[in-house]
Amino acid sequence: MPASAPVPEMADRAAACAERLRAADEVLLNSHIDADGLTSAGVAASALERAGIPFEVNFEKQLDEEAVAAIAATDYDTVLFTDFGSGQLDIIAPYEEAGDFTPVIADHHQPADAETEYHLNPLLFGIDGGSELSGAGAAYVLARALEGDGDNRDLARLAVVGAVGDMQDTDGELQGANQGIVEDGVAAGVLEEGTDLAVYGKQTRELPKLLEYASDVVIPGITNNRNGAIDFLNDLDIEARAGDDWKRWVDLDAGERQKVASGLVQRAVRSGVPADRIDRLVGTSYTLLAEPEGTELRDASEFSTLLNATARYERADVGLAVCLGERDEALTAARELLRNHRRNLSEGLQFVKNEGTTKEEHVQWFHADDRIRETIVGIVAGMSLGASGIDRSKPIIAFANESAEEVKVSSRGTGHLVRDGLDLSVVMREASQAVGGDGGGHVIAAGATIPRGTEDEFIAECDRLVGEQLGKE
Ligand code: C5P
Ligand code: C5P
Ligand code: ZN
Repeated sequence: MPASAPVPEMADRAAACAERLRAADEVLLNSHIDADGLTSAGVAASALERAGIPFEVNFEKQLDEEAVAAIAATDYDTVLFTDFGSGQLDIIAPYEEAGDFTPVIADHHQPADAETEYHLNPLLFGIDGGSELSGAGAAYVLARALEGDGDNRDLARLAVVGAVGDMQDTDGELQGANQGIVEDGVAAGVLEEGTDLAVYGKQTRELPKLLEYASDVVIPGITNNRNGAIDFLNDLDIEARAGDDWKRWVDLDAGERQKVASGLVQRAVRSGVPADRIDRLVGTSYTLLAEPEGTELRDASEFSTLLNATARYERADVGLAVCLGERDEALTAARELLRNHRRNLSEGLQFVKNEGTTKEEHVQWFHADDRIRETIVGIVAGMSLGASGIDRSKPIIAFANESAEEVKVSSRGTGHLVRDGLDLSVVMREASQAVGGDGGGHVIAAGATIPRGTEDEFIAECDRLVGEQLGKE
């Protein structure tokens, strides 16, 4: 066991998993196509490489029966799953029993009803996989156990990007086991944490856009109002331009940043924004110190969006290359994909805004058909639930067509609903299985795939289950 294991509760299991990987001739590393999945793969690939263990990498959108069968058909006797695997243990277990391969799993999703020996998941050790440790965090715990020729603590920076990508910092900062990883990164000199304005784009967005687009906390006259944002900066006497260009947040000095932040808080107070929303204006930001200032890679949140922009568009190879340190071509390609991703998110949000949601007794939903790509419909659902004008008292369920036969479902809740008993992983699993599909995830965010045409029956089942969970039936 490495000295000062980042998550002591998981150290013994991590050591056993590491031992199993070292015994393998060659490992097939499989991961999920989102920011957390990519950073999980980045952490695991770096650690395997450093430990001198040969491996190949494979990404899957969904680890379903078909994907597991294809993995089992390869020659690999050791298969590492990161950021998924736990929820699909019922699919994996029969292949393990048949001797097709030995699974090693570093995941943080609700496990399905089956067990395996090399299973590293915070939920098995009393740690919340939805808010205290991400897939990349689980992979990091494994990486520390693998060590290789360094101590792998530099990989903490990727684990933090994964946790932020999974929105585990929604209460303003990373917590629990994640915090141990942050401390590792700070000690290794690769990460800095600081209290700062909690808006997206502090590294790369020009100031008016930064304020205009910051819609998590809606400030009348500034949010969605470019001229209002510019007037606000002028009123504060902030020199917001450098020559012909607008400055970005990173171009301001500490005094100017302080001035803008307190100006925003004051404006919010005067506009009657509720105190619990105002608190969300400031939070902890995580800076990757080796990355150049003013780039997407410098800020954990912007980095995670860049990664989503690759993997969710079938370019996980680009995102992984960026995680592994490639710049030049990989970074250029990722930035191009980011522009496209941004456009899609904004169109998706507009679609939900225009169409609204259909309200059932306990849930609300919308069907995007082909209007939103199924790989990003969950992001759009989550952003919609955070946007003004959407009822936050009911979880949101979103549909998008996945293929001619199947529909993708994404669901998102709030911390408040979860404290009241909401568990979307159970809702998605049970309601999807009731209509011949499958699903799972976390209490606050989960998904499923169901046969087309079963949406109404599925929604009725979700509505019943959520009602039960919230004690309203
Ligand atoms: O598969 P994975 O665990 O990586 O995905 C987690 C998903 O849950 C992400 O899409 C993330 O945005 C979402 N999430 C959320 N709100 C939270 C926590 C997670 O929408 N508070
Ligand atoms: O796809 P979406 O972003 O809605 O996924 C939310 C969470 O549910 C993610 O953690 C994802 O891995 C999980 N999920 C799952 N099984 C599915 C679909 C999503 O475990 N069939
Ligand atoms: Zn994850």
